[in-house]
Amino acid sequence: MILTEKKLFVLETAHTGYAFRVTEGGVLQHLYYGSRLPRSEDYDSAPVMLNQPGNALLDGDGLCREDLLQEAGTLGWGDLREPLADVTFPDGGRSCDFRFSHFERPEEASPDGLPSALGGETLKVVLKERTHELYLELYYTVFEDEDVIGRWSRLINDGKEPVWAERLMSLQLDLPADAYELITFRGAWAREMEFVRQDLQGELRWSSRAGVSSNRCNPFAMVCRAGAGEEHGDVWGLNLLYSGNHLGTAQINAYGSARLTQGMGPLRWQLEPGASLDAPQAVMAYSPEGFGGVSRCMHPFVRRRIVRGYWQDRERPVLLNSWEALYFKVSARRVVQLARSARDIGAELLVLDDGWFQGRSDDSHALGDWTADSKKLPGGLAALAKDVNAQGLDFGLWVEPEMISEDSDLYRAHPDWILGHADQAIGRNQYVLDLTRPEVCRYVCDSMKKLLEEANIRYIKWDMNRILGDVFSPALPAARQGETEHRYVLGLYSILAELTEAFPEVLFESCASGGNRFDLGMLCYMPQVWASDNTDAACRSAMQWNYSYGYPQSVLGCHVSDAPNHQTLRRTPLDSRFSVASMGVLGYELNPGELSADRRERIREQIAYYKAHRRLFQFGQMYRCPSPEGERFTMAVAEDGAQAAGVHFAALNRPNPIQAPLYCRGLAGERVYRVTNRPTEVRLKDFGSLVNYIAPIRIHAGSLVEKVADQVVKLPADQLDLTASGEAFCRRGFYPVQPFGGTGFNGPTRLMKDFDSRLYLWTADAE
Ligand code: GLA
Repeated sequence: MILTEKKLFVLETAHTGYAFRVTEGGVLQHLYYGSRLPRSEDYDSAPVMLNQPGNALLDGDGLCREDLLQEAGTLGWGDLREPLADVTFPDGGRSCDFRFSHFERPEEASPDGLPSALGGETLKVVLKERTHELYLELYYTVFEDEDVIGRWSRLINDGKEPVWAERLMSLQLDLPADAYELITFRGAWAREMEFVRQDLQGELRWSSRAGVSSNRCNPFAMVCRAGAGEEHGDVWGLNLLYSGNHLGTAQINAYGSARLTQGMGPLRWQLEPGASLDAPQAVMAYSPEGFGGVSRCMHPFVRRRIVRGYWQDRERPVLLNSWEALYFKVSARRVVQLARSARDIGAELLVLDDGWFQGRSDDSHALGDWTADSKKLPGGLAALAKDVNAQGLDFGLWVEPEMISEDSDLYRAHPDWILGHADQAIGRNQYVLDLTRPEVCRYVCDSMKKLLEEANIRYIKWDMNRILGDVFSPALPAARQGETEHRYVLGLYSILAELTEAFPEVLFESCASGGNRFDLGMLCYMPQVWASDNTDAACRSAMQWNYSYGYPQSVLGCHVSDAPNHQTLRRTPLDSRFSVASMGVLGYELNPGELSADRRERIREQIAYYKAHRRLFQFGQMYRCPSPEGERFTMAVAEDGAQAAGVHFAALNRPNPIQAPLYCRGLAGERVYRVTNRPTEVRLKDFGSLVNYIAPIRIHAGSLVEKVADQVVKLPADQLDLTASGEAFCRRGFYPVQPFGGTGFNGPTRLMKDFDSRLYLWTADAE
């Protein structure tokens, strides 16, 4: 709900309130963002400083802006913090003073050429620069049920001369003096989303200059009052619907108050008379219930307001991806064989990854030439798709359309289509196409349409395997080079908008060497993202946990891969790889045909189990539950509370371990649940020479006898079966079956080897 009373503006969601007012002189003063207050007057209580403390400045109305909480900070009038908007005027000056003009309640409003969240109720506040014909429009959208507020801004030059936008942020959030902490998610390739928590003192940033939102620093961040935790404390979550460079700033000023801003990265945009510039939409959520509270706003928000179209609420297929099975060694025979073995384990979609197009023998060729390699796939894609379909599977394809290899027909025809100068640093032997040029976007769009029309392709993995470096477009004049990065993103979005509209039922999965472009912008077009090239269960368990602060598991592509893992060379139990991947959109990234029959059977059981509970795994509300140090316990609870799944992942095994309860979250307090664990396998070979204490004959580790015994002897697996109320599971917790303590093994013992896990399922009695 949006209340506008005299000069007070209050935006309320189901549980939160956000307020600002117009001061006497027309400056927008921020008042409050927190839990919803009972009366609108309650929000209107903050003071304004009308005296000059020491050497601070007063504006023409006698207002000291240095510590005034505001909605739209600028430079030059005594506010020393990061500005929302920064403009250079025709005389070269940058002092800028926006004052309230009027407000509107538009039915719909979204930034031009950029994606925006679906629905909501919008307020537009128009400010005018005091001495120039320059307008700043602030857009606020209330997503009531999700407790999220969207923000973006538009700069309009109504003057007679050009001005230059040096910065146009989407969001500014000023918070009163207190002790705060900033949580950001940083990393690198195969190491996405590392949780970084810092005291907020002085100035901190979270940003990307890679030309993509990047794995170096995800746009999602949280600010909390010092000491907040998973389930307690004031937390504000911020995110941005943008896939290019981004910038987040967090500052504590000389008076202890905080300013946060978020938007696209630095640019220099020339605004001709009559022209405007739109910032992408940012979103924020507040919760007094800690980080978990913010996640429970962001997850439904992403599911309902960001992901859209045919796949929004549809269960995603279990796929088998050819990358780690074949790498570049693609041939029609191998792909069909892979499809056969994929069908055999119960997968529903076969994705042919890199290596399928003309001359693509390794990563230095052919990007840009999107036709099937005539030697590898003599019948072309249409015939291959048919053969895969004949196995009862859908067919999906990998592409990397924004890129161009020097060794490609496209480069030979259009060497000037690359972004940057010919002499530049290159990544993965490839250049980036200059998507600021409409003719390049047309080529990309048309070549993708042709592919999708010529074969029965139901899924596209849209990859992007290098970052931007020399961001220069020969197609733009020198004075406009500062616009190149943003124009690239606008070009990309125009392609994605056209393609997803033309092929609404194709499932697109976004990828950029894994999670190098994991953001809300891409998710507006593509309902899932390949979260990381790292499929090691131990790494993934942590990474998915960290993604879950800001993103629901329905957008995370999670694959079971081979052991030893190709990224870490670590061996983790097959069931752990499954348990971890099951808390997301499950896929397999291995060659089932190369596994033993009993491994294939185990995978068949995994996929059948996942399919039986797929809605719960993909769309259940995620909870990060309390767990002993070094372990992780995550739950997904069905919307109606009738079922829940939980994965308990342990890292390193310890002898004689402490028996601690696990505490559930999200279960309906009054309902009675029965919990059981998915039967695990206990392998004889895991005991090594210990088996000789019970074996009638001597069994040597690694011997053929051990191999045979391992296949034949079935050891009892632990089985939990408990019934209690949801309240009891959450408050009192439950004890997993007693762990193996270094001696003694039988049925009632839970053997947790290194990187082992248990997958639990709660089912409620009928109401
Ligand atoms: C990137 C992706 C991988 C795979 C390769 C193919 O690294 O993240 O999953 O598709 O490209 O070249």
